[in-house]
Amino acid sequence: MFKLATFAALTAAVPLLASAQSATWGQCGGNGWSGFTRVYFGHCTYVNDWPGTGSGTTSNPGPGTTTVPDVSTTSDEPGTTEGPDPGNPYPGYDVWLTPYYASEVSAAAAAITDPALAAKALKVAEIPTFTWFDVVAKVPTLDAYLADAKAQQEETGRKVLVQIVVYNLPDRDCAAKASHGEFIIADGGLAKYKNYVDQIAAIIAKYPEIRVVAVIEPDSLANMVTNMGVPKCAGAAAAYKEGTIYTVKALNELGVFMYMDGGHAGWIGWPANLEPAADIYAEIYNEAGKPRYLRGIATNVSNYNALRASSPDPATVPNPNYDEARYIEAFAPILAAAGFPAKFIVDQGRSGVQGIRTVWGHWCNVKGAGFGTRPTGETGSADIDQIVWIKPGGEGDGTSDSTADRYDESCGVDTAHENAPEAGAWFQAYFEMLVKNANPTL
Ligand code: BGC
Repeated sequence: MFKLATFAALTAAVPLLASAQSATWGQCGGNGWSGFTRVYFGHCTYVNDWPGTGSGTTSNPGPGTTTVPDVSTTSDEPGTTEGPDPGNPYPGYDVWLTPYYASEVSAAAAAITDPALAAKALKVAEIPTFTWFDVVAKVPTLDAYLADAKAQQEETGRKVLVQIVVYNLPDRDCAAKASHGEFIIADGGLAKYKNYVDQIAAIIAKYPEIRVVAVIEPDSLANMVTNMGVPKCAGAAAAYKEGTIYTVKALNELGVFMYMDGGHAGWIGWPANLEPAADIYAEIYNEAGKPRYLRGIATNVSNYNALRASSPDPATVPNPNYDEARYIEAFAPILAAAGFPAKFIVDQGRSGVQGIRTVWGHWCNVKGAGFGTRPTGETGSADIDQIVWIKPGGEGDGTSDSTADRYDESCGVDTAHENAPEAGAWFQAYFEMLVKNANPTL
């Protein structure tokens, strides 16, 4: 993860490279069809063998010879770009608790000798956190998770929502080293990424009754706003754009509510960065065909900023947008003017303590942090759908071992916790600190 916080960092406001949009056809299958071959929610209908040409042939009859009933006229069907705004995904839903994080937390609590602290630690397992799909090998677990959510929904009679992070773009984390991913653009990474997305989509398609909220690709588009001077980011721009559009179109077909990552107040929130950023986010939204379920933007993912600070943390000076609410309230109208009427979710998982950084741009295992405001729909802003916990608190941001391949200097600064494991690996000392410093207290 890379979280740049400098005003001077606006090196380029380069629009992402243009790429042709693939045509959308109102049917599934047929000659030349490269999209999904299943009927999701009835929005896509087999009409003939030659999508877009109308010149049918019997040489490749496609999936079935009879017309699949078309219920796409139902205006709120997923997969359409037109129809009523599907709205905030959270009200009326219980947010599913990921057993993966719960097991990390229970093991961590069991390793704490102070019984009072262990009891507090265990409470964290009851707080909904996003599940990250940061490598393709984890994708099959989504099937069991959604099956579990479905069982919970049937058992309780209450609707259940599952929160995921899609995080595997090729040449990932282009401006930092700590979270380099498994796919490399020069090694067919974009095709592998699309296959990863297809696998996620195929699993979600099996559970149409479960609502899914997805954060799309932390850091990627924000890097396109401020870090085009970094060769790896400039080289990744076209793939990031194509990959992001691919993902939002695929998941929109399934009615997955999506929020693209929007950096945070100390990155995109600098006044000079807002307009260039809005252009890029709106470009993705428009070129993807204004997906109805691309609800907006997630901010402060894995970062430490307050939603509302009573006074500016000294590290934030001189940004007038010194907290996430100020950033969002400044950004939302600019995005809307650029054609993207975005709503927001905000990560507050590790934002319980302020005043812990000397440099706002420090993002790695910041010492003194505490768990923050619990997930809630009481956000105090019509622009903000939900306060959420996206980064699973206790998983590391990056190794402090300066000899490691993925060592990033940000993980070796004075304000970064020492003895840190690789990004994503469990960091027991850090978790205990988050528990001790939790605000509100656990
Ligand atoms: C890591 C991922 C991990 C995520 C959540 C990122 O910084 O690169 O591997 O899944 O954090 O902990």
